[in-house]
This record gives sequence, C-alpha cells and structure tokens, in this order.
Amino acid sequence: MNGRRLIKLIALLAALAGFVRMSGWMAQPPAAAIAQATQWQPNQPSSGARYAGAQACAQCHQSKSKIHAGSAMAQALEPAADAAILRAHTQLSFRNGQWIYRITREGVRSLYTISDGAESLTAPILWAFGRGASGQTYVIERDGVYYETRVSFFTSLRALDITPGAPRRAPSSLKDAIGQALGRQDAMACFGCHATVAPGAQRFQLDNFTPGVSCEACHGPGEKHIALMKSAAAESETSAGKAIFNPRRMHPDDLSQQFCGACHRSWEAVMQMPERGGMTNVRFQPYRLANSRCYKNPDDRRISCSACHDAHEDARHDAAFYDAKCLACHQSKNSPSAKDRIAPPCPTGKAQCAACHMPKIEPPGLHFKFTDHQIRVVKPNEPYPN
Ligand code: HEC
Ligand code: HEC
Ligand code: HEC
Ligand code: HEC
Ligand code: HEC
Ligand code: HEC
Ligand code: HEC
Repeated sequence: MNGRRLIKLIALLAALAGFVRMSGWMAQPPAAAIAQATQWQPNQPSSGARYAGAQACAQCHQSKSKIHAGSAMAQALEPAADAAILRAHTQLSFRNGQWIYRITREGVRSLYTISDGAESLTAPILWAFGRGASGQTYVIERDGVYYETRVSFFTSLRALDITPGAPRRAPSSLKDAIGQALGRQDAMACFGCHATVAPGAQRFQLDNFTPGVSCEACHGPGEKHIALMKSAAAESETSAGKAIFNPRRMHPDDLSQQFCGACHRSWEAVMQMPERGGMTNVRFQPYRLANSRCYKNPDDRRISCSACHDAHEDARHDAAFYDAKCLACHQSKNSPSAKDRIAPPCPTGKAQCAACHMPKIEPPGLHFKFTDHQIRVVKPNEPYPN
C-alpha cells in the first residue's frame, strides 16, 4: 500500500470508528480532499451556475457531441417510450413462486403487470435504467412513490430475471412483489448517477432532469463557458479561464477515484460496504484498479481511467487495443531498457495482455462477465481476491 492510500485508509478507519473527527493532526486533509473542495465534482450540487444542456454544447463541440451521443453513458437512462429493449421485446414474462410478472408493449407504453391470481397490479413503466450492456432495470410509480422493479431484463438471457440485489425468494405480498420502494434519497441517488441536471436549472430535481450522463454531468454547468466563448474576449483567453471544468487537469488519482469514482464507486466507497461488496465489487473499477500492483504509484497518469478510456465513448472491446497502455510502463523483449518502462516484462505473453491479466468475472445473479480491473497474475482455481 502506498502512502497516499495509507493516509486515506487511516482517515477512513477513524471516520468509521467515529473516534477521531477531522481535527487535530487530521486537520491537514489529504491532497484529494483539497482538490474536492475547490473543483467541480460529478453528482454534487453546483455553486450557482446554470446548466445549458447538451444541445448547446453541440453547437461548438460537434465531433465530441456526436461520439458521446452514441455511448452507453449518454443512454444510461431513457423514458420507456424510447428504450430500445422495451420496443424490441413486446412480451416478457417471469414467474417467481405464485407470482407472474409481465412486461407488455402497448403503442409507446410498456406495462408492468404482477399477479398471483388473487391480487394484481398494472402500472406503466416510467424509466428504463441502463442501456443494457449487462441489463436494464425499470422504475414505476405507485401512490406517489417510485419503485425499482423486482425483475430486470438481462441481455445475455434476453429475458427477465430477479433484479441484482433483490431477494430471490417468492414475494410474500403484492407490495413485496412490486420491488424496492425508493425513498427520496434513494431516487435522487439513482437518477443522480444516470441523469443530468436540466437546462436552465442549477441543481438536480426529480421532476425535471435530462436522462443520461450528459456533457455537464462531467463538466459542470456550462452557462458561463458558453457566454464567454461567444463573446469576442474568448480569443484572448488562456485555457485556465474558460469557465468550464476540464478533468484533464486533475491529479490522476483524483480523476479515477473522486471523479469517475463518484459514479463508478471509489476505493473509499467500497471499503465502507459490508464485505466490500463481495464479488459484485468487480463492477467498481476504481476500487479494483487501486488494489492492483500497477496502481503502486497513484500519481502515474498512465494508470488513470483516462489512460485506457475516452470518457466520451464506450470501452473498446478488442484486448489488443490496450497493449500499448500496458507497454507504456511494462518492458517488453523489443524494448528491454526504455527508461520510463518502470515495470517488469511478461515471461509468457507478448500481446493481448488484458485477456490474461484482466479476467472476465460473472458475479452470481448478474448474468454478465465484468472485466476485473485488479490487474494481476491469475492463478488457476484462486478464490476471487476481494
Ligand atoms: C460558442 C461555442 C461553444 C459552446 C456553445 C461550448 N463551448 Fe466548450 N469550448 C469552446 C471553445 C472555443 C473552447 C476552446 C477550444 C477547445 O478546447 O476546443 C472550448 C473548450 C471547452 C473545454 C476545455 C476547457 C479547458 O479549460 O481546457 C471543455 C471541457 C468544454 N469546452 C466543454 C463544453 C461544454 C460541456 C459545453 C456545453 C455546456 C460547451 N463546451 C459549449 C466553445 C464552446
Ligand atoms: C455521473 C455518473 C458517471 C460518471 C461521473 C462517470 N460515469 Fe461511466 N458510467 C456511468 C453509468 C450510469 C454507466 C452505465 C451506462 C449504461 O450501460 O447504461 C457508465 C458506463 C461507463 C463505461 C462502460 C461503457 C460501455 O462500454 O458499456 C465506461 C467505460 C465508463 N463508464 C467510463 C467512465 C470513466 C472513464 C469516467 C471518468 C472519466 C466515468 N465513466 C465517469 C456513470 C458515470
Ligand atoms: C453511485 C452511482 C450509481 C447509483 C446510485 C446507481 N447506479 Fe446504476 N450504474 C452506475 C454505474 C457507474 C454503472 C455502470 C457499471 C455497472 O454496470 O455496474 C451502472 C449500471 C447500471 C445498470 C446496468 C447497465 C447496463 O448497461 O448493463 C443498471 C440496470 C442500473 N445501473 C440501474 C440502476 C438503478 C435502478 C439504480 C437505483 C435503484 C441505480 N442504478 C443506481 C452508477 C449508479
Ligand atoms: C463521463 C464523463 C464525461 C462526459 C459525459 C463528457 N466528458 Fe468531456 N471530458 C471528460 C474527461 C475525463 C476529459 C479529459 C480527457 C483527457 O484527459 O484527455 C474531457 C475533455 C473534454 C474536452 C477538452 C478536450 C481536451 O482535449 O482537453 C472537451 C471540449 C469536452 N470534454 C467536451 C465534452 C462535451 C461537448 C460533452 C458532451 C457531448 C462531454 N465532454 C461529455 C469527461 C466527460
Ligand atoms: C490499463 C487499462 C485500463 C484502465 C486503467 C482502466 N480500464 Fe476500464 N477497461 C479496460 C479493459 C481492457 C476493459 C474491457 C474491455 C472489453 O473487453 O470490453 C475495460 C472495461 C471497462 C468498463 C466496461 C465494463 C466491464 O467490466 O467490462 C468500464 C465501466 C470501465 N472499464 C471503467 C473504468 C474506470 C472507471 C476506470 C478507472 C478507475 C478504468 N476503467 C480504468 C482497461 C482499463
Ligand atoms: C503506470 C504503469 C503501469 C501500467 C499502465 C500497467 N502496469 Fe502492470 N505493473 C506496474 C507496476 C509498477 C507493477 C509492480 C511491479 C513490482 O511490484 O515490482 C505492475 C505489476 C503487474 C503485474 C504483476 C502483478 C502481480 O500481482 O504479480 C502484472 C501481471 C501486470 N502488471 C500487468 C499489466 C497489464 C496487463 C497492464 C495493462 C492492462 C498493466 N500491467 C499496466 C505498472 C503498470
Ligand atoms: C497467455 C496469457 C498471457 C498473456 C497474453 C500475457 N501474460 Fe503476463 N503473465 C502470464 C502468466 C501465466 C504469468 C505468470 C508467469 C510466471 O509466474 O511464470 C504472467 C506474468 C506477468 C507479469 C509478472 C512478471 C514478474 O516478473 O513478476 C507481468 C508484469 C506481466 N505478465 C505482464 C504482461 C504484459 C504487459 C502482457 C502484454 C504485453 C502480458 N503479460 C501478456 C500470462 C500472460
């Protein structure tokens, strides 16, 4: 464990124990905390500036906007009317004990129906969460309360099954059968990670937002930037004065943990989960990556999320694409002595490094093989390193 992580662990343990408040010797917060206080963070209320909406950004940033529009993050939330999975699957059903679940398409609506023969409920699906790399979960409303449906669509099954995190046992009542009631805070959290503040607004509102992770979910409210860029003064501005947040200038560890980790779950967030989330923590890349020996030096930009991913588009699926990223640090037979190659070569493989060292793992009930970002030598029959 490196120094930076050690400081964070101590701070975390202290906070968990409720023993030491952030005072005394802890009054010097780690660099990350300072950065957090002074910089824009995803999923946090803004400091007064207003949002402009992705269409406004597209006027000047055409190519980025086009690429981003096709990404999973841009489509992380859709109204039922638009959701491709619901349009393509007009009849879905699933049985759990005596309860039968159905999702049926009627025009632009999809209806969620539950029945055990005696009691039943039918409600239109309001929102489809997730583009469906692994699956899609639905949100309905009943008596003014949002519910996460107890069954979800799984892409690999092309069928419904129990929603991740929901109990597999047969429901005990109609209310139990619907799914998880989302309190206001839960709903704010779900929509906060899958949607963006509405144009003209300053903060997230459950009755007015833009579905999907849009430009300003990551760059912060753009009103001032647009005004500045439209004014003639823009030509003489330095890049530090563009009135918009550019994550490129973040410390690499803050980018991975605080920034991407605000939604993908940071090392700290996962450390606070019971049993660190168990095997499902393979979904939490910032945590997994930080546990890897490649992350020994968190100050190294070559191991931040942005080194391997362009946040404006989907992950590349060809393992060979990532070889150059690994070989930026690891030596190879062709270049044994390049000075900045700080890590040893592979005795076994020359290409497609990720295929062997970032294994695909399917946590129970998720019906999807996630890529383990805890880069390592995989030993046969080893238990999942939690
Ligand atoms: C009127 C044109 C215009 C609009 C509208 C616009 N931008 Fe820009 N933006 C620019 C120009 C010009 C630059 C500087 C050149 C560059 O980096 O592309 C820039 C730079 C940026 C940068 C880099 C800033 C830096 O400090 O390095 C980001 C991030 C950005 N824009 C995001 C956005 C977002 C998000 C929106 C929508 C809310 C948006 N822009 C709307 C013209 C515009
Ligand atoms: C505001 C929340 C949020 C932030 C911030 C965020 N993400 Fe995401 N990301 C999501 C959600 C939600 C999904 C799931 C989209 C889906 O499949 O519906 C996702 C999916 C992805 C995917 C998978 C796309 C695919 O190929 O299926 C990648 C890669 C990714 N994010 C990388 C990043 C990186 C890198 C950063 C930081 C630069 C980042 N994300 C920041 C919310 C976020
Ligand atoms: C802290 C941010 C966060 C919260 C809160 C959150 N999500 Fe997500 N969600 C993500 C990210 C990041 C991903 C992409 C990585 C993954 O699949 O785990 C994702 C993925 C998903 C997926 C799979 C998408 C796909 O394409 O396969 C579904 C479905 C989903 N979320 C539904 C929900 C629902 C429903 C809620 C609320 C009950 C919720 N999420 C709350 C961040 C969040
Ligand atoms: C999931 C988070 C995320 C979303 C959504 C997102 N960006 Fe970015 N953006 C980033 C990151 C991270 C960087 C810095 C990339 C790097 O380090 O190379 C960046 C950089 C930029 C830059 C500066 C480019 C440069 O070379 O410095 C511009 C301009 C920009 N984004 C515009 C947009 C626009 C327009 C949208 C919406 C269509 C958008 N971004 C959506 C995360 C995001
Ligand atoms: C050293 C390269 C590397 C780094 C650094 C990296 N990733 Fe990945 N990532 C990959 C590879 C390889 C895949 C698998 C692509 C595939 O096969 O589809 C992947 C896939 C993903 C996916 C898609 C879901 C999955 O499990 O396949 C998400 C989301 C993601 N990465 C997020 C992140 C985030 C967030 C960070 C920063 C904490 C990050 N990645 C850092 C290499 C990297
Ligand atoms: C920022 C530089 C950097 C990048 C990028 C990087 N690594 Fe590493 N990697 C290291 C360092 C440093 C070590 C630890 C060496 C040591 O402990 O002596 C390491 C260790 C390893 C190990 C041995 C781990 C163990 O548990 O024994 C493997 C395997 C590995 N890296 C593979 C990869 C692969 C595959 C990629 C690309 C997907 C990659 N690395 C990207 C720096 C990096
Ligand atoms: C076919 C699977 C496979 C591929 C492809 C592969 N490796 Fe490995 N790698 C292994 C195995 C197995 C070991 C453990 C070998 C041993 O201990 O004898 C290993 C060991 C390592 C180590 C640890 C070396 C040490 O001295 O501790 C590093 C670093 C590494 N690989 C990096 C990489 C990089 C970088 C690539 C891509 C250029 C790569 N590997 C491609 C299977 C692979």
